[in-house]
Amino acid sequence: MKLPSIIRSPFLATALSLFLGLAESPAAPNSPTLENERAVGPAGTVAATPALSYSAVHVDGPFIAMTFDDGPSAKLTPELLDILAQHHIHATFFVIGKNVVDHPEILQRAVREGHEIGNHSWSHPAFGKMRDESVRAELQKTDDAIRAAIGTRPVLMRPPYGSITARQKHWINAEFGYRIILWDVDPLDWKRPGPTVVTSRIVRETRPGSIILSHDIHPGTIKAMPVAFDQLQAKGFKFVTVSELIAMGKPMASKQAGEEGAPPSPSPGGSPAATPAPVAAPTAGLTTP
Ligand code: NI
Repeated sequence: MKLPSIIRSPFLATALSLFLGLAESPAAPNSPTLENERAVGPAGTVAATPALSYSAVHVDGPFIAMTFDDGPSAKLTPELLDILAQHHIHATFFVIGKNVVDHPEILQRAVREGHEIGNHSWSHPAFGKMRDESVRAELQKTDDAIRAAIGTRPVLMRPPYGSITARQKHWINAEFGYRIILWDVDPLDWKRPGPTVVTSRIVRETRPGSIILSHDIHPGTIKAMPVAFDQLQAKGFKFVTVSELIAMGKPMASKQAGEEGAPPSPSPGGSPAATPAPVAAPTAGLTTP
């Protein structure tokens, strides 16, 4: 495969930007979003601080990260924790600060059971349109609430609606140390299409390294999970937290020759068509609650 077409492949460009991000040296902003793919190219050197943001991770095995946003929910999150425990799955919860203050015990249980907690703002505004001091307050209040509940600070942040600018990614990472986590699988569960549809979208679109978006505040999402988990596990996928997935990230360079836009490793369920869509781009964000 010729280099230029590698670069044009959305998936490989994403993987390349992740590789550049994971390699250690000075460089441009790296993220799987379209805006930053362009930023990576001109930098030219294989070098960078760790990647600022991820919508998926290039991994060698069938590892994926399930994420749940907008909770905790007093009723639904404990039900979900029961389901996760039955399936021996560790997930990542991107929580809303004001919900954390109402239900710290749910976060404590989640952490006790091996799940990861990330910051999803205090009141769920779209960061991309906000002043820095307002974004900072949203993040700080939530960081404080999470630390008060579980005793440790989060290391991940997901902007509501995926709305965040490249500039914001940089200062948020510099000030809070957060990695910004987007997604490559979106079942649009917030539109409440019914559990069967949520399940089938997730199972169809998930590939090795996927970060799957969903929301533990919708009953249909919770109902979708047992079958979704069963089917993903039957396909050989292994669930890890987002931080674990990032830690498994592998460079693409030595493997490019054989990949031609295919999934990054033997795929139990992925298809070449299921590239990380521009869904993760900031402009695509204003579609989820
Ligand atoms: Ni959200």
